[in-house]
Amino acid sequence: MTPAIETEDLRVSYGKLEVLRGVTLGIPAQQGVVLLGANGCGKSTLMRSLNALEKPQSGTIRIHGETLSTASGTRLREIRRGMGYVFQQFNLVPQLSAFQNVLLGAMGRHRLGLLGCLSLTASAEERARAMHSLERVGMVDRALHRPAELSGGQQQRVAIARMLMQAPRVVVADEPIASLDPKAGREVLDLLWRVVREEGLSMLCTLHQLDLAREYADRVIGLKAGRVAVDAAIGDTDTEQLNALYSGMTDQDDEPAGVAA
Ligand SMILES: Nc1ncnc2c1ncn2[C@@H]1O[C@H](COP(=O)(O)OP(=O)(O)OP(=O)(O)O)[C@@H](O)[C@H]1O
Ligand SMILES: [Mg+2]
Repeated sequence: MTPAIETEDLRVSYGKLEVLRGVTLGIPAQQGVVLLGANGCGKSTLMRSLNALEKPQSGTIRIHGETLSTASGTRLREIRRGMGYVFQQFNLVPQLSAFQNVLLGAMGRHRLGLLGCLSLTASAEERARAMHSLERVGMVDRALHRPAELSGGQQQRVAIARMLMQAPRVVVADEPIASLDPKAGREVLDLLWRVVREEGLSMLCTLHQLDLAREYADRVIGLKAGRVAVDAAIGDTDTEQLNALYSGMTDQDDEPAGVAA
């Protein structure tokens, strides 16, 4: 079966700083993977590359078999539309209600104009789906609240509902619980993994908590110094191996080769 996400010898640099130094990985469809690694090791850079927000110096990214770097225009939009993002900072539009933010998840499907027209131009089917998405994350009673009137955990639930509305095949979640307290974080993580499993999606999710990675993931991939240092089914990893991802210096300093010639 074609992997959901595949990268081959992916290299990304910022000026002289070589952040990803040949990342090769493959995530099968319907697998939930936690991406681990110390601060600054390149996790977010990898995730942005998967959404074509970062342009790799070399290497290949394939999403469900389609090569990202050679896709453009409509094709690229199609690929990106099939990918749902969940961010640490929720990325909700402050002026819009929870309901309208969720409707935004359908925007890629037909190009809507002004955000203000969103509720008016959305079809009855889309509005019903948006309410259903809010229902799935337990936020129906807050549908008309703006993000500022919601707790962090509630905002992340709305962001997950927006992601559901988009109907992606692949989810990329970059530290989805880093802004939440432990209780809200766990609730959001439960919810996120539940919808991923229920929808049969594939997910790459960064976390900083090894215990949570163990609890939720099918598999872990660990980055260190811009390369894959661990790639194993969750049952095949040991604490020592995972702790080693965080040992030594961080921020790419542990290899002189980090500074490109
Ligand atoms: N736009 C940018 N311009 C220059 N350097 C950048 C840029 N984005 C990231 N970097 C650098 O690239 C390296 C990797 O950053 P990245 O955000 O991918 O790390 P990370 O693994 O997500 O870290 P964290 O766990 O703190 O989120 C860091 O040294 C960072 O300073
Ligand atoms: Mg990051």
